[in-house]
Amino acid sequence: MSRATAIDLCYLVAIAAFILALKGLASPRRARLGNIIGAAGMVVAIGATFAQPNLAHLWMIIVAMIIGLVIAVPAARLVKMTAIPQMVAVFNGVGGGAAALVSIAEFISPAYRGAATYKVVEVLFGVLVGSVSFSGSAIAFAKLQELMTGRPITYPGQQALNAVVAACVVGLAGAVIATSSAPILWVLLIAALVLGVIFVLPIGGADVPVLISLLNSFTGLAVAASGFTLDNNLLIVAGTLVGASGILLTRMMSQAMGRSLPNILFSAFGSVVSASGGTEGPEGRSVRSGTPEDIGVLLAYARKVVIIPGYGLAVAQAQHAARELADTLMARGVEVFYAIHPVAGRMPGHMNVLLAEANVPYDELKEMDEANPQLPTTDVALVVGANDTVNPAAKSTPGSPIYGMPIINADQAAHIVFLKRSMRPGFAGIDNELLYDPKTVMLFGDAKDTLQKLVTAVNDA
Ligand code: TAP
Repeated sequence: MSRATAIDLCYLVAIAAFILALKGLASPRRARLGNIIGAAGMVVAIGATFAQPNLAHLWMIIVAMIIGLVIAVPAARLVKMTAIPQMVAVFNGVGGGAAALVSIAEFISPAYRGAATYKVVEVLFGVLVGSVSFSGSAIAFAKLQELMTGRPITYPGQQALNAVVAACVVGLAGAVIATSSAPILWVLLIAALVLGVIFVLPIGGADVPVLISLLNSFTGLAVAASGFTLDNNLLIVAGTLVGASGILLTRMMSQAMGRSLPNILFSAFGSVVSASGGTEGPEGRSVRSGTPEDIGVLLAYARKVVIIPGYGLAVAQAQHAARELADTLMARGVEVFYAIHPVAGRMPGHMNVLLAEANVPYDELKEMDEANPQLPTTDVALVVGANDTVNPAAKSTPGSPIYGMPIINADQAAHIVFLKRSMRPGFAGIDNELLYDPKTVMLFGDAKDTLQKLVTAVNDA
């Protein structure tokens, strides 16, 4: 077998591994295995690339890889679960930037002189989409990391300006096709970077993670384009997989939020509305707050309890305490299950990952559609650091920004207990009527602390 055939074969193995990895990642049970298969595929792909004959700049590649490893390994190990979306934004952005640079490097190399028009179009696509993804991801990172306001930034004539910049980019692309001019390609790169920034500025709040998934898809497409430019099948397939899975994830997230993608991208939703502190609502309405002892008795003598986790569970790192409470209740004969909303937390599968870490058995986790029919026969809905995902305004208030988002019907349980620190709203920034419902009791405090107190209270009941 020739070396070229062996390399192609390795690439084929890597491609198969990437597809199997995606399949594995689709289920919590096989996610870990999927990750390992994907990583093994990447090792094969990198090994085969090093085996390429006439590989230029070997030392530069090795130095770049070492720099990447030194930055990425500690970053991935140390990052808090709640900060994963911004880390994805960074990794995604540099991927898009790299794809754009690879396309430019090929374009300005002597071998590319006089290339066919379709080859120039491939380069343009890589530069344009990769640059938009790079600068857009940088702004998304800054918003999520609170280096700038997370709210939508809007100004008069914004849509018109965006349209003008987009038109300039198209015009410059036409000029590059007509003239194959490298300086015009550099100008196009700058215009595309500007387009990425102004495209992302008006997107804010809860919509940023959806945006990151979309930009991830863009990066995949840019990588696929650079695969065409380099005649590299592995890059074409891997980039297309990222592009397709990113767009599917974007669609699933927007559906779970009850919004269309154009509405998320162009409506400047996500402005933070009022945030009232203390135990009084905006109109000075009072709420019922309980003690761990009262609520411990309520739970201990219930027949069926649902735990509804949300972002606050992640902030408090309360997954182990939640499991301990569930185990304590189950030991007393109480039926307990967890109701998982598809966009609970700040990233897809956030709650599944946390609860898996606490070894909660998968069959106790019920997705929203499976959990909701059980809510009318549930005695206590224990809402642990969730807010928007149980907010009935999504069903009842047409003007509300979350109107149309499917929710977990905690309001249908006989009793509702909220574990949160204050009356502050969730990510969407809107008040939640359910906090004032006569069936609701608030247990204020950090979720880990209050769950631990509930375990003691249930044991004492
Ligand atoms: P949120 O609506 O964001 O509410 C979280 C609640 O947790 C807050 O009200 C907060 O109240 C409480 N909290 C924070 N820290 C806490 C702690 N240490 N202990 C106890 N409570 C704590 O959460 P959710 O219900 O999970 O909804 C997720 C939101 O993110 C939705 O709006 C969704 O659309 C959006 N979003 C999610 C995703 C994905 S993919 N998951 C993507 C895009 C957008 P206090 O401050 O009073 O404690």
